[in-house]
Order: sequence, then C-alpha cells, then structure tokens
Amino acid sequence: MESRRILFVCLGNICRSPLGEGILRHRAAERGLSHLVETASAGTGGWHRGEPPDRRSVAVARAHGIDISSQRARQLHAEDFDRYDLIFAMDRDNLRDIVRIAPHDSMADIHLFMDFVSGAARNVPDPYYGDDRDFEQVFAMVDEGCRSLLDILFRGKPAA
Ligand code: 4NP
Repeated sequence: MESRRILFVCLGNICRSPLGEGILRHRAAERGLSHLVETASAGTGGWHRGEPPDRRSVAVARAHGIDISSQRARQLHAEDFDRYDLIFAMDRDNLRDIVRIAPHDSMADIHLFMDFVSGAARNVPDPYYGDDRDFEQVFAMVDEGCRSLLDILFRGKPAA
C-alpha cells in the first residue's frame, strides 16, 4: 500500500504545524503505521525559515513524550502541491493563503485541519502571542485531530 503524504501548514512553521508533523508521526508509529504515513510541515510565510520550532512548542511536545526539536522551519512552495496528497491548514487565513499559492493544476487535497478531522470548521488558534496554556490547548486540539485523522485514513486496515 502506498503511504499517505500529509503536509501541515501554518503561518510561521514554528508553533502549530511543527506540532502537527511531530504528533502525527508519533501517533502513527504507536499504531504501527509509520510505513504508511509520510508527514512534514511548512509555513505560508518565510520569516522563520531555518529556525527550530518555538521553544514553547518544543516544551509542550516534550511534556507529552514527543521530540520535535530537530525540525526546521521552511516556507510552503509550489512543489509541495505535487509531493503531498493532503495539505492541512491550521486556520482559515492559512487556508486562503495556501489556495493562493497553489499552482492552478494542483491535485492536492487542501482542507482546514479541524474541519477534515472533526467536521467542525474551527481554527487551531495561533498561540504565538499567548502563554503556555495556549500551547497546551493547541497540543490537545492537534493531538485529538491526529488521532482522528489516523482513524479516518486507516480504520480497518492492518498495521503491517
Ligand atoms: P505559527 O505561529 O504560524 O503557528 O508558526 C506563528 C509564528 C510566528 C508568527 C506568527 C505566528 N510571527 O508573527 O512571526
């Protein structure tokens, strides 16, 4: 079976989408699905390119047993629309920007993340100007979303 290629996109690629990438990879591994899930993340903006995730995202992930410290921020580019089957926007502004950046012939499936995984078209709120509680809330939303995503994509499929 071919792996699903899943890209998480936020604004800066230092707070929310690195959590999406790290959590999905970790939860897929726990279910024995690593060979079926390829995941990455990017930002619609390029200001933080080359930087590690925000230390508050690294800390909240670590508190839940997930290491995202080796990720580096990058900007979304046209080739991503060929490479990834599913592109998830963390909020509606990201969704609008992703659609604007997408090549006209893009075949990628582009969705608001919480809408795809829960049917509730909610933003994952930008925690950049918030505090540790905001990062904990983002972790909880994204973690629940990633668990649902694996259920949706792989329910009933054998792990190996
Ligand atoms: P992210 O959060 O989009 O979840 O990575 C942000 C990171 C940086 C900025 C805004 C949001 N910024 O304004 O630099």
